[in-house]
Amino acid sequence: MKLFGNLKVRENELYLGKFSMTELAEKFDTPLYIIDEDYFVERCEKYKEKFKSDKFESHIIYASKALLNLYIAKLVGKQDLHMDAVSGGELYTIIKAGFNPKKIYFHGNNKLIQELNFALDNEIGTIVIDNKKEYENLDKLIKEKGKKQRVLLRINPGIDAHTHEYIATSKNDSKFGLSIFDDGTISFIEEISKNQNFDFAGLHAHIGSQVFAEDSFFKEADRVIEYAKKLEERLGIKIEELNLGGGFGIYYTEEDSPFKLGKFLESYAENIKTSLEKNKLDVKIISIEPGRSLIANAGHTLYKACSVKETYSGKNYIFIDGGMTDNIRPALYGAKYEAAITNKMNDKDEVVYTLAGKCCESGDVIIKDIKLPKVDDEDLILVSSTGAYGYSMASNYNQIEKPAMIAVSDEAKLIVRRETYEDLIRNDIGDVLE
Ligand code: LLP
Repeated sequence: MKLFGNLKVRENELYLGKFSMTELAEKFDTPLYIIDEDYFVERCEKYKEKFKSDKFESHIIYASKALLNLYIAKLVGKQDLHMDAVSGGELYTIIKAGFNPKKIYFHGNNKLIQELNFALDNEIGTIVIDNKKEYENLDKLIKEKGKKQRVLLRINPGIDAHTHEYIATSKNDSKFGLSIFDDGTISFIEEISKNQNFDFAGLHAHIGSQVFAEDSFFKEADRVIEYAKKLEERLGIKIEELNLGGGFGIYYTEEDSPFKLGKFLESYAENIKTSLEKNKLDVKIISIEPGRSLIANAGHTLYKACSVKETYSGKNYIFIDGGMTDNIRPALYGAKYEAAITNKMNDKDEVVYTLAGKCCESGDVIIKDIKLPKVDDEDLILVSSTGAYGYSMASNYNQIEKPAMIAVSDEAKLIVRRETYEDLIRNDIGDVLE
């Protein structure tokens, strides 16, 4: 298992900073989401330090869908990043954390009226319009409230980013945004830019997630910049901001070949600068929206091996105390992870196991066929790099409580408490049958 951030091995045992996994499990119980706070902060700093240029101001927008709770939102605020949201619930969480609403970008292909209302009432800095109907809804609400709203338009630049079909967003049949190949998009932009209720600031695009091809990002930037130039020329408008989205791929297992982040960000910024110069376009702000790339390798899940079962066919299962309810990614996308038995870090890998969860579902598998040292009941297993889209996509299937989450730095702090049985029936109305 690759040791990211502050994960270390001492005397055959896995530590995060000064805390052993055994200690953390004893104090907080398992399954447990563990955030390596200092490593998350280090990644934020790297983005700020490396993605910059003398040609534009850069906004690093944390894509909160990767992992969001009050503590994470506060941490992002402290790092002075911007943040995106795609629902009223995400907006609410971010605002409740005291994050500056002016630094929020509100995305989504189908923002509900109540969500738009909520965004306007809370003075969200930028709303990213997805389609005509949304624009009309927003226009009506803005008029009623007598406000003016800064907006970007989500466009689809038609770049094939070669990622999993479920997380590719820029093919021509994608549900997101409006195609740059459609003439109607230009007339629509003209309409928005002439509407006094709107401050039309520019464009947004996002080509997909867990993308490794640097080239796809460069191509996307070129296409968006060329399109922005075309808009300025045809419509006589000024584009203030281009938001190029996120999707920067990370390491989960040896099958992944992520780029070197610092180098990539420098050359990305350089490429954008060159493209702006080539197109003779001056844009004040260039934004990017990493989610996974900031948090995935800074988050891990600690499980207990409750029992080992060998099937009649000879397959060895480790039954862990969590599973698809705390991490749906393997079941949903065939996502792969690495893991280690945290009290046997230097022992020889000798048995091939499948890490299975506790749901009534054969597909409830976190890792298929991983070679590990021989497991004993009560051993602890850390599945690494689960920081993105684990907790945020967790469910209560089989009425299983969501795990607790801790942030580890100089201290280990509980930041999300473990759900209880009581939490599971909190919204049920018990007297309907009486
Ligand atoms: N910006 C927009 C508009 C997005 O839709 C997304 C992700 C991001 C930024 C951040 O992408 P990232 O840097 O995290 O790759 N549940 C899937 C990933 C879905 C991504 C959705 N949009 C997974 O678990 O792999």
